[in-house]
Amino acid sequence: MPATARKPRLLFFLTGSISCYKACFAISRLAQAGIEIRTVVTPSALQFIGKSTLEGLTGQPVASDMWELGRAMEHINLARWADLALVAPATANTLNRLSAGMADDLVGSLFLAWEIQRKPWWVAPAMNVAMLNHPITQASLKKLSGLGVRVLPTGEGNLACGEEGPGRLLEPDQLVMHVLAELGPKIA
Ligand SMILES: Cc1cc2nc3c(=O)[nH]c(=O)nc-3n(C[C@H](O)[C@H](O)[C@H](O)COP(=O)(O)O)c2cc1C
Repeated sequence: MPATARKPRLLFFLTGSISCYKACFAISRLAQAGIEIRTVVTPSALQFIGKSTLEGLTGQPVASDMWELGRAMEHINLARWADLALVAPATANTLNRLSAGMADDLVGSLFLAWEIQRKPWWVAPAMNVAMLNHPITQASLKKLSGLGVRVLPTGEGNLACGEEGPGRLLEPDQLVMHVLAELGPKIA
């Protein structure tokens, strides 16, 4: 690898959905593929997976609390550091908050600190079909898309709530495929 070459950098956000475990599979495969990954988890996501899991998979510390001692500028530094941001799973709550420009947590602050015209920010929604079809969520997705955010599709099938339909988080191999299509060419 030339002295100046570096690994592509992915900022991976996990928000509070049962499908966080699927994101962990994707993170594992992307790390093995040579992508440097830093993770940001909402407090709700920590109800589904542990920081130790993500630290183990990425070899990097996990960010969650904007006010953590010694990491106060993380909301700017991580936005500067990454080549691509991916929110997967993206909850209805986070999507609606991002579209409103809320910045009272790490996900929202990083979104506003992100130069959206220069670097890609993607969301992979995961939620109950009614939450996905709700006019507020649909309006947020449309707004985010208009701002330059790439909204990845959802899968169809059995949802954790017992219903069927769209709203499933993409499968890990599909998430991996999308990220590698974007960052793969940068792997030296
Ligand atoms: C068991 C369980 C599963 C959930 N799964 C989802 C989900 O898949 N999608 C979603 O939008 N919200 C889901 N929620 C609700 C979110 O966790 C909740 O709205 C939370 O405030 C999201 O916070 P965050 O966006 O900051 O992570 C779930 C809640 C519970 C208790």
